[in-house]
This record gives sequence, C-alpha cells and structure tokens, in this order.
Amino acid sequence: MSAARKLGATSGQLPAVVAMHPITLRVNGTLTQVEVAPWTTLLDLLRESLGLTGAKKGCDHGQCGACTVLVDGKRINACLSLAVMKDGAEITTIEGLSAGEALHPLQEAFIEHDAFQCGYCTPGQICSAAGLIRERRAKSADDVRELMSGNLCRCGAYTNIVAAIQQVMAAERDPGSACGEAGEHGERGERGEGEGKA
Ligand code: FES
Ligand code: FES
Repeated sequence: MSAARKLGATSGQLPAVVAMHPITLRVNGTLTQVEVAPWTTLLDLLRESLGLTGAKKGCDHGQCGACTVLVDGKRINACLSLAVMKDGAEITTIEGLSAGEALHPLQEAFIEHDAFQCGYCTPGQICSAAGLIRERRAKSADDVRELMSGNLCRCGAYTNIVAAIQQVMAAERDPGSACGEAGEHGERGERGEGEGKA
C-alpha cells in the first residue's frame, strides 16, 4: 500500500494527494498494521477496513455510546477518536471479549438477564460495562446507571442491563456468589480526549 493516495477530483476541484499514515495496533490480540488517512476515525477503521462491525455507528457524534471499544483497557467512543492517534494501542472490541467459544461473563449475564432487545446498543453497552468494572468506581445500582449513562438504549433495556452488570461485579468481588444479588461495586475511569461519556 502506498503512503500517499490520489483522491479523485470532482468537477472544479484539483486532485489532492493525501498522505497516509502507517500505524500499528494490537486489535483483539492480533498485531495489525494499516495505513490511515489523517481523518479516519477508529470506528471507521475497525468497521470498514478491519471488518469488525460489532461496534456500531449510531450518532457518530459521541452521544450514544454505540461505538464504545476498549483502548488500552479504557472505554472510549471510537467515533470521536482518530485512528492515527492510537498508533501502538491495544484495542479490544466486542469481537475480542470472548475467549474463543467461551463468552465473556458480561455476555453471559446480558443473555441471562435479557439485557438486550434489538441488540444494536449491546456491543457498546458490554464494552462500556467491561471498562466500568475495571475502573472499580461503581458501588451501587445508581452508580452503575450514572457511569453507564453515556450509553443509550432506544429499546429501554436499562433495568436488565444494570442487573447484568451488577451480577458480574458481584461475581468478581465474590467468585462464590455466582448469581447473587447484583452487588454494589464497580468503577469507571476517565475517558480521555473527549471520547468519554457523560
Ligand atoms: S456512534 Fe454514537 S457515540 Fe459514537
Ligand atoms: S437493545 Fe435496542 S438499542 Fe438497546
């Protein structure tokens, strides 16, 4: 792939040569080298170039959370993140959360609690929940609601989503309490670069 690409000119415009930037990412555990235009978002790179269509494009403006992925373990809105800025980062998408055929505990819990309906928001919700649990800031259901508030669900599955997340938080805190009361605890860290949610 060349480092520069000639864009087709539309009538009245001169052709432009765009410098492409080579970047290396580790995506779901696989070292991936690509060339990206300066304006390519991480979301577009994942979906359109790498074929990872789990992360969804909802608003494309950082308002719905459908595009949430984990970058170096932190949840971000991929639609607000330029791919070129993530050179060298470790990216985890919904496709990379399971361990082979074994679903991630959050995926299991979402199924168990019927926490998705149409499923459009679900990849973002689950990636965001994974980040939230890792952040260890949530202590209650209200905390989970607040810390997940950047993820919108048009199908109104919020109650079941909170229950699923709390179940996994409780299991992590006390591995013996499998289906226990969705406990109180968790967290959510900072989301940098304007990529975060409310
Ligand atoms: S697509 Fe809505 S926040 Fe990214
Ligand atoms: S399940 Fe439909 S948008 Fe959330």
